[in-house]
Amino acid sequence: MKKGLFITFEGADGSGKTTQLNNIKTFLNEKGFDVVVTREPGSLELGQKIRNILLHYDGVVADRCEIFLFLADRAQHVETFIKPAIDEGKIVLCDRHTDSTIAYQGYGREQDIELLKSLNEIAVNGLKPDLTMLFDVSTETAQQRVGNEKDRMESIGIEFHRKVRNGYLELLKENPDRIKLINANNSIETVFEDAKKIIIDLINRN
Ligand code: TYD
Repeated sequence: MKKGLFITFEGADGSGKTTQLNNIKTFLNEKGFDVVVTREPGSLELGQKIRNILLHYDGVVADRCEIFLFLADRAQHVETFIKPAIDEGKIVLCDRHTDSTIAYQGYGREQDIELLKSLNEIAVNGLKPDLTMLFDVSTETAQQRVGNEKDRMESIGIEFHRKVRNGYLELLKENPDRIKLINANNSIETVFEDAKKIIIDLINRN
């Protein structure tokens, strides 16, 4: 059977990537593709429990505990949901994946990036996105879009979020074939047009 595609959506909180993911899903459905939408952390039942701790636990979460929680969620997600869907020929659109760990825990929390890359490898067990769309937005704009209702990660100060953005841009330099940059400062319509072009290009190549 023909394998599906695995596309990840990355960017800061407030980058608008989730809105665009849903727009892309509708667009691909209209073209007749079999599409599934998912997210990290927390797409499945066990993942929901992990997500709840990660985003809403109000006690201290040690940096390394946070890393393993994101990775535990990812390992479960890849094994029980993403890989089977790709094997069934579906296009999987995933809101955040391995690059979030490098950007947030690596660049943001300043944990060992090479170590995180190795841990990501263990969690994904050989899976790699066919394409990653990076929705890049200025940290100030992103923070305004997030507003006042912030979860545990969003509540970390603006300097952390600047480091996260910088981390994503470093990942882009390292992976120019896989990661495609989209200027998410633009209007929703313009961002959607840019995202569509990238998706169409990928589909034409497969
Ligand atoms: P979520 O509400 O899903 O945010 P968004 O809608 O912006 O994707 O919350 C996920 C949060 O977890 C977000 O702040 C990014 C963070 N995160 C990490 O720090 N590391 C990771 O590996 C992942 C997957 C997410």
